[in-house]
Amino acid sequence: MTIRSFKGISPKLASRVFVDESAVVIGDVELGEDASVWPMCSIRGDVNLIRIGARTNIQDGSVIHVTHRYGSLPEGHATRIGSDVTVGHKVMLHGCTVEDMCLIGMGSTVLDGAIIRSRVLLGAGSLVPEGKELEGGYLWLGRPAKKVRELTDDELKWFQYSAIHYVKLKNDYLGE
Ligand SMILES: CC(C)(COP(=O)(O)OP(=O)(O)OC[C@H]1O[C@@H](n2cnc3c(N)ncnc32)[C@H](O)[C@@H]1OP(=O)(O)O)[C@@H](O)C(=O)NCCC(=O)NCCS
Repeated sequence: MTIRSFKGISPKLASRVFVDESAVVIGDVELGEDASVWPMCSIRGDVNLIRIGARTNIQDGSVIHVTHRYGSLPEGHATRIGSDVTVGHKVMLHGCTVEDMCLIGMGSTVLDGAIIRSRVLLGAGSLVPEGKELEGGYLWLGRPAKKVRELTDDELKWFQYSAIHYVKLKNDYLGE
């Protein structure tokens, strides 16, 4: 089953959300309006919570998880993803925050406590270390991710374009 409860907590899906039948969404997870989750994704809110904003798309094979609460880490690490975010194919987001209108490049990994501020373009295959904060408005790239350059106007517009493109695409899937 794609949408599963865990310890009595079920995922909450706002209106018009698309979750592909091969994806798995478990436990304390909320998906905002028009969000989409593509084939083979795992979004596992079992030991902490996961929040995903409106129109955000989580592309194929991505994994989103959290860190549990324990003695020296009483809050653990939840994962919070804002609105209009594009999460590319095969991304790992673990116990981190991604603010509105970002693009997380294919195959990237973001570790616990990292914060990706609004309007970051994270290049494909990047690694964001634990607790690192990426300033918005810039291209960040590499393992570990470094600030490369300011984003162009076209790139800044691309965040919204990509989000809307994926809303249309998931509407086509919902209509099938
Ligand atoms: C980084 C990116 C935005 C391109 O930025 P750019 O400024 O146009 O960079 P260029 O293509 O001109 O390449 C500049 C240099 O960076 C290198 N480069 C490009 N992308 C890179 C990446 N992801 N990681 C490491 N190096 C990269 C290029 O090889 C080139 O190196 P060189 O100067 O030694 O030849 C793009 O490659 C990328 O990673 N986009 C993400 C796409 C994605 O994952 N979308 C989500 C799915 S829809």
